[in-house]
Amino acid sequence: MNVLGIESSCDETSAAILSDGNLLSNLVSSQDIHNVFGGVVPELSSRAHLQIILPLVKKALQDSKISLNQIDLVAATAGPGLIGALLVGLTFAKGLSFSLKKPFVAVNHIEGHIFSGFLMNDKPEFPYLCLVVSGGHTLLLLVKSDTEIQKLGSTIDDAAGEAFDKISKLLGLGYPGGPQIQNASLNQRTDFANFPVAQCKNEFDFSFSGLKTSVLRFIQKEYGDASKIPTNDLPLIAAAFQYSAVKALIEKTEKALQNFKVNSISLVGGVAANQMLRDEFQKLSNRYTKKLVIPSLEYCGDNGAMIAYRGLKLHQAGIKYGYDFNAYPSLSDYSFIK
Ligand SMILES: Nc1ncnc2c1ncn2[C@@H]1O[C@H](COP(=O)(O)OP(=O)(O)OP(=O)(O)O)[C@@H](O)[C@H]1O
Ligand SMILES: [Mg+2]
Repeated sequence: MNVLGIESSCDETSAAILSDGNLLSNLVSSQDIHNVFGGVVPELSSRAHLQIILPLVKKALQDSKISLNQIDLVAATAGPGLIGALLVGLTFAKGLSFSLKKPFVAVNHIEGHIFSGFLMNDKPEFPYLCLVVSGGHTLLLLVKSDTEIQKLGSTIDDAAGEAFDKISKLLGLGYPGGPQIQNASLNQRTDFANFPVAQCKNEFDFSFSGLKTSVLRFIQKEYGDASKIPTNDLPLIAAAFQYSAVKALIEKTEKALQNFKVNSISLVGGVAANQMLRDEFQKLSNRYTKKLVIPSLEYCGDNGAMIAYRGLKLHQAGIKYGYDFNAYPSLSDYSFIK
């Protein structure tokens, strides 16, 4: 079974070919045009997807040595994401599926991330505790099977990735912020400032807006404003922020581990690329002797491979999608997360 997976929910266009469970290609084209704006500009994103999607799919087929009529299933992200961006990939996938007379599957982007650990050789084992940390979401989930996902907690304000992006912007380190904060923090002490970990009413929920404000207040108190931060202090502030953000994610995950019986742990989404977070998850999994699956870096950020994999599972579960299935902006619209 050859599955074509297409991802276009934000600022990455991706096409992947999954053949009998083996990934033959996973091409990701990132849109650098947004960097000067310090964030994704939706209209520019849609146009960039439109320009790249056809050559990207052609190249994915070429690299996989698969011809178009050998495709058995077309899977595309339908949401959540930027509507214009989603429509490009989704409409392309529907058109292709219709012309090939092969089924089409609409995939929830976050479910793509949740199951991205299955792209690794060593796979998660159900039930598993999954922390989704991305640009738009922070979710702590109990994944019981392909179609049963229980939400334990989520962010009540900003997503973890959003906090990295905003602090990076505040410090003048650039966009996307996660990699910049990580690089700036490398080999720095973490106790230059003591930024808080928010406690929420639901013990598995997260909050990052207080942490953001606390970094801002620290800067205002110490330097007046961000433009006056001495160059030597920038990495120290970045490292203290990263430490608190990671601590918050670890603390809630550990609480969940103490409360739910699971066979493994999985850390997924763009922020799962963070080395400090990966290291702390490794320590957590050692402490609780639980198998840990963190996708390799190419499957943490947005990619077509996770969409192809999730699409295949939905298709195998017998779930059918008509061509009237539309793109949707929010996670709550069509999701197995309950
Ligand atoms: N090394 C890193 N450390 C911390 N954060 C990182 C790192 N690398 C990437 N990120 C963050 O990951 C986020 C992007 O992840 P991803 O592409 O999964 O998000 P998205 O698709 O925009 O959002 P969502 O998946 O919620 O729809 C950005 O916020 C980016 O700063
Ligand atoms: Mg994503």
